[in-house]
Amino acid sequence: MATATKDIPTATGQGSEAASPEERLWAALDAEGYDSAVYGSELLRSMYEGELAIAQRMMLAHDVLVEVGVGTGKFAGPLSGNGYPVIGVDISPTLLEVAKRRYPELLLIEGDGRRLSEILDPLPAANGRRLVACVLNSIGVVDAVIREALVREMIRSSAGGSFLLAVFSAEHFHRGIAEFYGRSPQLCGPVRDGDADHIRHELRTTSSYFSHWFTVAEIDDLLRAAGVRSYSVERCGVGLFFSGPIPKGA
Ligand SMILES: C[S@@+](CC[C@H](N)C(=O)[O-])C[C@H]1O[C@@H](n2cnc3c(N)ncnc32)[C@H](O)[C@@H]1O
Repeated sequence: MATATKDIPTATGQGSEAASPEERLWAALDAEGYDSAVYGSELLRSMYEGELAIAQRMMLAHDVLVEVGVGTGKFAGPLSGNGYPVIGVDISPTLLEVAKRRYPELLLIEGDGRRLSEILDPLPAANGRRLVACVLNSIGVVDAVIREALVREMIRSSAGGSFLLAVFSAEHFHRGIAEFYGRSPQLCGPVRDGDADHIRHELRTTSSYFSHWFTVAEIDDLLRAAGVRSYSVERCGVGLFFSGPIPKGA
């Protein structure tokens, strides 16, 4: 799927999961374009601040933080550097290179979140009670089948720990189109009439950029299917945040 970079290990011993068009897009995405679109967006800023605050609060009760879809490290990076292991996994070598340069204390691995247990289990730094996070709608940029596998594997890999799942809320999808995607051609290319489906809350552009925005019921289904029995829901800006304990047998 992706070529190994000099300083970032590629997960070995993995079965071969076929890369979807969306995953291929992320694997080659321009990191500066991504950051300027996302972190220059007023609409997304409060969500980012909300997910950071929740993670800081939750970290206290855990031994290690793992982020699936770490990208350029803007979430995991500020949470690292205090002797608390923070591990980031991503399929995109271009985004990981930037994360490595910015946050040298992050432990970064190029790999597919659908293989999270295989990636984490051999790592001494991943031992102990895990807080596994997937934020800024990372599960919304892949199709429904991959999304289910990612959530299932997040939960399975971290039984006995906790999870944080931060997604874009379907009720704000129209604002996402007008105030974010429509102003971010460096991320998703031009948004044309018909690219946004306001019933399914999904955007698909001609550059293969895809994003799904979620209802609480959709995330509830994903979490239940993965074996989570109770969780909290918080909201901040366009963000919906789900967090809670992962049962030992999940
Ligand atoms: C919306 S971005 C979020 C990036 C970062 N978490 C942030 O907050 O800026 C989604 C990320 O998920 C990654 N990704 C997509 N599919 C993945 C998969 N199967 N396994 C691991 N990472 C994946 C992409 O490469 C991208 O970095």
